[in-house]
Amino acid sequence: MPYYTKLGLLPQKRHVQFRRPDGCLYSEELFGTEGFTGPSGTMYHIHPPTQVYGWKPIASTKVEYVETDIMRMRHVTTGGQRMPPRGDSVTGRIVLFGNADCEMAVCNPAEQMPYHFKNAQGDECIFVHFGSGVCHTMLGTIRFGPKDYLIIPKGIIYTLIWDKRAEKVGLNAEGKPADAGPSFENTPFGRFLLIETTNGSHLGPPKRYVSKDHGQFLEHSPYCERDLRLPELPLTWDIKGDFPVRIKARDLIHEYVYHYHPLDVVGWDGCYYPYAFNIDDFSPITGKLHMPPPIHQTFEAHNFVICSFCPRMLDYHPQSIKVPYNHSNLDSDEVLYYVEGNFGSRKGIEVGSLTAHPQGIPHGPHPGTIEASLLATHTAELAVMCDTFRPLHPTRAALELDDAKYPASWQGEHFPGLSTGKMHLNGVTVPPASAAAFPREVHPVPVLHAEVNTRLIPAPGTENATNGAAAVTKPGNTANVWAP
Ligand SMILES: [Fe+2]
Repeated sequence: MPYYTKLGLLPQKRHVQFRRPDGCLYSEELFGTEGFTGPSGTMYHIHPPTQVYGWKPIASTKVEYVETDIMRMRHVTTGGQRMPPRGDSVTGRIVLFGNADCEMAVCNPAEQMPYHFKNAQGDECIFVHFGSGVCHTMLGTIRFGPKDYLIIPKGIIYTLIWDKRAEKVGLNAEGKPADAGPSFENTPFGRFLLIETTNGSHLGPPKRYVSKDHGQFLEHSPYCERDLRLPELPLTWDIKGDFPVRIKARDLIHEYVYHYHPLDVVGWDGCYYPYAFNIDDFSPITGKLHMPPPIHQTFEAHNFVICSFCPRMLDYHPQSIKVPYNHSNLDSDEVLYYVEGNFGSRKGIEVGSLTAHPQGIPHGPHPGTIEASLLATHTAELAVMCDTFRPLHPTRAALELDDAKYPASWQGEHFPGLSTGKMHLNGVTVPPASAAAFPREVHPVPVLHAEVNTRLIPAPGTENATNGAAAVTKPGNTANVWAP
């Protein structure tokens, strides 16, 4: 993070004598990025942080991608009971998509972490979908709950301790988990989406949200410093013993053993620290006409961005199209993770789904969704998106959860009642003949008659759909809108 903060005990100046109650010196450590020219922090340990023992390799984390030369829209279903609990908050991570810049994984841990972890390879963005608990880090403690982003920068030692979901959320009147999540047997602690950097860059707010010289959030930013939850006490564990710290580096988990508790910092300050941000604290930017996806941007790193599609008011021009236009994101692959809301406009999309749209194919509203949403005023959908500038590749795990029918889901009549050959071209009704019959002086660009916007045509399967073009749909005031 760009702005300065501090926690715990600090000496008056940097690099001066700072003594423990027993008279010995605390061990100062500078935690620097970008060759000590980027954000950094200064910590004071009870023990020298260099005292580690017993390093050994544990497991490879190298991701194997498949179908790297195939461009296809994908729908990966991880919701419901499809992804059984596995491992802990580190070993249970199942990478689904990635490239040389980032990896995207979903985790449904079966057990608590019996160790501390350090990702020395990249920054982590953990989006907590279900569950709650506490994240103890070397820079302090952050409680987390549903829909929190946890940003844990590279090198931070931490552990996640989950609440038992059954005890924390309980059952609703229908006997189902009160958080509307999967069964407690399927998801005993929680589940999260993980996006981590693999290119050495750091996650942070978009540069356009903060002032150039001082990093303060600007007025147009959809969130600001007050929305971020920084580490708090407890900070320090003064305990001796054997404590394993698993370190991810070079696509390999190593285990180092500390002979003291690894969270032994008594104080720190600087601009490099973990924090939490709840997606409900993102204040969506809305407009009279459709706003482009960058207004949803929440974080960025080199070559990819993370966006939050939150419940919001829809476009308020009287003739606005409420669902996004068809679009080709020519330089990006898009992956959406669906969190909550009604995804009825996207056939087959459900909570926990991920869709992947490669840069080579235009995408947009599903058949029937445009007309059906014209009178809507709000959307309740919630989704997290990761856009990458380089092609994303699926893993074998993603293919095992892939909905093969998804690429064909746009097929079918979007505008029933439209008859070929009856278009109004520049005010001229073209006779139902071949294009060769066009008068040469008529420019062959179809301009839709204004009638289209005043006559609502039912989508297939909706009320009055069989009555023809004169029927009128009755949309509610909440759209089933596909976010981007
Ligand atoms: Fe898109």
